[in-house]
Amino acid sequence: MISVDRTLLSVLAATAFTGACVADVATGPDATDDAAAAAPKPPKGKDGHAQTDGTGTGETFFSAGDPDPQNPFFASLGTNGRSCGTCHQEAQGMSVTPAALQARFDATGGTDPIFRLVDGANAPTADVSTVAARRLAYSNLLARGVIRVGLPIPATAEFTLAAVDDPARYASAAELSLFRRPLPSTNLAFLPAVMWDAREPSLGHQVIDATLGHAQATGVDQAQMDSIVAFETSLFTAQRSDNGAGDLTKKGGGGGAEAVANTDFFIGINDPLGHNPTGAAFDPRAFTLYDAWATDRKATPSQAAIARGQALFNTKPIAITGVPGLNDTLGQPTVMGTCTLCHDTPNVGNHSFPLALNLGLTDEANRAPGMPLYTLQNKTTGAQVKTTDPGRALITGKWADIGKFKGPVLRGLAMRAPYFHNGFAASLSDAVDFYDGKFGIGFTAQEKSDLVAFLQAL
Ligand code: HEC
Ligand code: HEC
Repeated sequence: MISVDRTLLSVLAATAFTGACVADVATGPDATDDAAAAAPKPPKGKDGHAQTDGTGTGETFFSAGDPDPQNPFFASLGTNGRSCGTCHQEAQGMSVTPAALQARFDATGGTDPIFRLVDGANAPTADVSTVAARRLAYSNLLARGVIRVGLPIPATAEFTLAAVDDPARYASAAELSLFRRPLPSTNLAFLPAVMWDAREPSLGHQVIDATLGHAQATGVDQAQMDSIVAFETSLFTAQRSDNGAGDLTKKGGGGGAEAVANTDFFIGINDPLGHNPTGAAFDPRAFTLYDAWATDRKATPSQAAIARGQALFNTKPIAITGVPGLNDTLGQPTVMGTCTLCHDTPNVGNHSFPLALNLGLTDEANRAPGMPLYTLQNKTTGAQVKTTDPGRALITGKWADIGKFKGPVLRGLAMRAPYFHNGFAASLSDAVDFYDGKFGIGFTAQEKSDLVAFLQAL
């Protein structure tokens, strides 16, 4: 059983972990072709279809039994035809991928419910009168699978908006346009914080905001909201098989979604910064899923690579510098750690305690085409910084929180590229390259390919 934070997930406590059902999700190198069929529709239990990035198959385990296609998660509860499933698709790891979005655009001429001005477009004022206009209006969504989150600068913030460079000519201090990936609405039992900037106090609160915002509802039915939260908290998603290594649950392998449902968690479990309520010391060996393959002489080369990748994730030394939220908080210009210093939740990989970090992904140098760039000015010092997304700072108003985001769950990654809050890394290989470049880790080609093999097997 899972221990959960009851304030966050009280509904889960009432969820019976019985009648379990796993939806296998399709795949193989041609899997992206399946994306054409990816209009929003409920998962279909064992017949559910999904695709990966071509590295194998992913799956979602329904811990409360077969998913009910009548659950309001799949219903249009607002005024624009959208459901939660519009942006959280089982086939894409409960997120959405650019390949599937492009297929949805082509199949509908850009009128599928995900293509809505409110937050699908680069600006709510965009011209969507023709197919060609819509292709431009929804270019950020089509390119990187990002939704426009509109948030104001809080009146009490320590900074003001000195300048805006928004290619879509919409953003202002009253509503910054922030282009962010849909976080997967699965594996929610492990969240110490909801949303990239932790702005939602609970899943119960989040579902109401999502219905009023994304679906443009004029009101909500609380029973429906409760039903959605009960459904989404029963979902567990992970990679199940790998084209090279085969079934990730065989020969002692700990992969697959059902094992995720049986993974222990409480807020602060394995926190490296002293927030574990049990007082237990941090264990950098946070991932143990593929331990058996590290010592099995009969492990295939692909299985051995995944096990080596896991060891690298746990133990490869990284000199972490220049990460606001970590180096400054600890007062240490260099913190020696591993990937698990930040991805510490055992066998899940998010940060187990609410911690917002700035990896520099919102710096001007990492700005993608179509992204707005904001110049923020400190009210006290006059200092200026340029950022594509102030992140947590728009919630707390704190200058120190600019560019900070939570460390997300790392299961079911292969199904839902691209990565990071803004889709900066098109592939897991790109994500590893980002870290290698940022921290000068010096991965060899072999180490990099082992680490990617491991991340693909999550
Ligand atoms: C238009 C697309 C869209 C729709 C529709 C949508 N979401 Fe999301 N969802 C997102 C985006 C984008 C984020 C991340 C936004 C952020 O963090 O600022 C997100 C985040 C979430 C999260 C947070 C997960 C985490 O790790 O913190 C949950 C839970 C969630 N959505 C559930 C729902 C539910 C339930 C519904 C239906 C009521 C819904 N979503 C409808 C796009 C969508
Ligand atoms: C200093 C803390 C820190 C370290 C060290 C770290 N990460 Fe991260 N990781 C984060 C944070 C924070 C995010 C989310 C950042 C964002 O999107 O703005 C993240 C995101 C990711 C993602 C994207 C997940 C998604 O759903 O988009 C991957 C993959 C990842 N990290 C892998 C790694 C690997 C592999 C290593 C070791 C080489 C590593 N991380 C080291 C903090 C860290």
